Amino acid sequence: MSFEIHRGEFVGLIGPNGAGKTTIFNMISGLEKPSSGSIRFNGQDITGMKPFKIVNLGIARTFQIVRYFRYMTLLDNVVVPCLSKRSRKASKQYGVEEYASTILASTGLVDKARIPPIILPHGDLRKLQISKALGTNPQFLLLDEPFSGLSHEEQEGITDLINKLHDDGVTVFMTGHVLRELMHLVPRVIAMHQGKYIAEGPPQEVANNKIVLEAYLGRGEGFA
Ligand SMILES: Nc1ncnc2c1ncn2[C@@H]1O[C@H](COP(=O)(O)OP(=O)(O)OP(=O)(O)O)[C@@H](O)[C@H]1O
Ligand SMILES: [Mg+2]
Repeated sequence: MSFEIHRGEFVGLIGPNGAGKTTIFNMISGLEKPSSGSIRFNGQDITGMKPFKIVNLGIARTFQIVRYFRYMTLLDNVVVPCLSKRSRKASKQYGVEEYASTILASTGLVDKARIPPIILPHGDLRKLQISKALGTNPQFLLLDEPFSGLSHEEQEGITDLINKLHDDGVTVFMTGHVLRELMHLVPRVIAMHQGKYIAEGPPQEVANNKIVLEAYLGRGEGFA
């Protein structure tokens, strides 16, 4: 698997269930160590680096299955990443809570800042994940299946949010196993299957690629 993403890009990573998308994200974010090969960020080799070091270089990620601190308020959930070394530099002129509040305002959750996440609907939990990632002041944001489990309406809210982040200059790399979700969102997709790169290009083109079609249709999923 070999590919490049340039600063400011908005790229999708597609592939049927089990293709290896999350594994790629785990390796970029330092949760898993590749058995061979290398990962470079801004010219620096980050292969096998500890996750917190990778975060401090400017890479943040969200998880396919939402993760959060269950018994802390939304605000405190976002304060934690704001304490990262990288974020403290960016938030110096504010207090950390104030900085976290501005993030919650930008993701539409500020009215819920004082409640714990366990009572939130799933769409808000996905927004909270993104807020937590933003707390680290990322340059490169990895979103693992940000639409998973959401209603159509909730998906639209997340789409608007992701578009806004990209417009603000964040480089976005996101996965989706349903091609259609990504189709109208990203100008370029990279397709993988069984741990290997198979194609890349504009979504429409990749969706008509014979190998991609076989990868998806062979399993009877993906275009639904
Ligand atoms: N080096 C490897 N060799 C063989 N199998 C691997 C290797 N690395 C990861 N796997 C396995 O391959 C599968 C890939 O799953 P992964 O979660 O990355 O896929 P995914 O594309 O994110 O799927 P989904 O669409 O369901 O989220 C996992 O079962 C993982 O354990
Ligand atoms: Mg996955």
